[in-house]
Amino acid sequence: MCGIIGYVGKNDAVKVLINGLKTLEYRGYDSAGIALKNKSIQVIKSVGKVSMLEDKLKTLDVIRANMGLAHTRWATHGKPSEVNAHPHVVGKVTIVHNGIIENAFELREKLEQEGVSFKTDTDTEVIAALINKYYDGDACDAIRKATDLVVGSYALGIMFDDEDYLYAIRKDSPLILGVGVDEYFMASDIAAIVNYTNKYMLLEEGEIAQISFEGINIYNSKKIVEKNILETSVVDEDKGKCGYKYYMLKEINEEPILVERAIKNFYEKIDEFPNLNDYEEIHIVACGSAMYAGMIGKTLIEENTNIQVVCEVASEYRYKRVFYNRKTLVIVISQSGETADTIAALRKAKANNIDTLAIVNVKGSTIARESKQQIYIEAGREVAVATTKAYILQVLVMALLSCKSALKLDLVKNDLEKLPRLLKEVIDRRDDYKKLAKKIFKSEDIFFIGRKIDYAISLEGSLKLKEISYIHSEAYQAGELKHGTISLIEENTPVLAIITDDDIKEKTLSNLEEVKARGALPIVICNEKIDGYQDEILLPKVSTFFQAVLVVPCLQLIAYEVAILRGCDVDKPRNLAKSVTVE
Ligand code: G6P
Repeated sequence: MCGIIGYVGKNDAVKVLINGLKTLEYRGYDSAGIALKNKSIQVIKSVGKVSMLEDKLKTLDVIRANMGLAHTRWATHGKPSEVNAHPHVVGKVTIVHNGIIENAFELREKLEQEGVSFKTDTDTEVIAALINKYYDGDACDAIRKATDLVVGSYALGIMFDDEDYLYAIRKDSPLILGVGVDEYFMASDIAAIVNYTNKYMLLEEGEIAQISFEGINIYNSKKIVEKNILETSVVDEDKGKCGYKYYMLKEINEEPILVERAIKNFYEKIDEFPNLNDYEEIHIVACGSAMYAGMIGKTLIEENTNIQVVCEVASEYRYKRVFYNRKTLVIVISQSGETADTIAALRKAKANNIDTLAIVNVKGSTIARESKQQIYIEAGREVAVATTKAYILQVLVMALLSCKSALKLDLVKNDLEKLPRLLKEVIDRRDDYKKLAKKIFKSEDIFFIGRKIDYAISLEGSLKLKEISYIHSEAYQAGELKHGTISLIEENTPVLAIITDDDIKEKTLSNLEEVKARGALPIVICNEKIDGYQDEILLPKVSTFFQAVLVVPCLQLIAYEVAILRGCDVDKPRNLAKSVTVE
């Protein structure tokens, strides 16, 4: 989603803000903008990536400033354009916003009746207009009156023409405050400021931060709140692409070492891993790839224990009627720990007094803080928008958790020992993936089929492909394709069959024959030789618990090679954001 950074201090604000925006770019890259304050406020915006804003700044007469706000946008209200890019200015107010104002149209209509005219299609301009309406020299009062009228989520950075302060307020959107030496920050993500300071404060909902050259005051109603200064261990881990063409490729190549480390950590902390058998029922709730990692977990837990598992998309789970019993565990899975729907699902479980476990990457994130128990996947920073290494580690943690709870760890010892090496071998077979990519990259539709765990694997393979290559792709339970979707199979439509589960191998093969008979190009991804298929990728065979850790990287790389052949920006696919902090 949108990324916010604000700065007041001894350094050149442009430099700090642009560096911060580059770190936050994973949150949105439709457009970006910066507001610099010296005696007056100068606003500069640009459509596209942060580098385009940077280029534009070089061509302009930019004021020297030590205070400012900056923003990278993922459009909600109003298409990506320079005019809709933040910061927005109304009267004395300059503002950046992350979130969605749900009653924006209603508020806008009222303001228009009062004579306010709007320049943009954004919900953000409505808040700016409201704050401006109430501002008579008391900034906190105006911000509070305006936000009291707003329904939805927001993290706001605000400046006023006639004050040398930055203000921040948030509701259901992340925003932290950084405390440096003679410099202070606000940021959507701590990573944006760790080059300057590792000290930060949390801004709770309802509080307003007033940031100046002297420090940060936080107000709750009219009173100043004393805050603990926390320290983060996050370091700027982004050492660039290390010679790889894209971050995605670099991050896939990190998977073996991360898997090795995760297995070692697991054995060191084995007693801290919860025993799922303490529960009668598990709900796994997440979004996107994290939900598909949950699907792998569901399959493994149900196949190997007596626990029933519901795996649900968080945006549905948060609003639907959910049946809990006293022995339900809710597992939320999230790389960022800031996905709005997943946070809401977690809060729903907590409101029902249900135990919660978060499988999360970012320490100190909302999900990590609010869940009862946490398992950190320790993936390090993931820069490419489409997740790869974090997904693999989510799957590995789910597999280890299931295996421990099924009391089957002894049976998989050998597999776990060799897993990192086998994974490296899979990743190193890029020529095979390139060859396959050449056969399929011009297709309009690609299908993935599988049963049981192979279906869960197919879901992620198909998502990765469509995310980064923009080819329409669907994953189907192999037996279900013939109930409708088979009508889409045409001459040479690629159908990738994932066949690793011995129990249902023959069944999936029959389904593959059905599509082959209708002209499809059958491609087999398997862990045992299957005769009769020209296009086959044979991967190493391990216990079903860990098979996905070897198969999905192959699918990630097929998606990568297809996207490259189609000339796509692999790291920043159109329309996507890495951390979805709005509903
Ligand atoms: C976005 C990302 C996906 C990710 C999903 C959940 O859609 O593009 O890659 O799987 O959010 O994110 P989370 O941070 O909760 O794992």
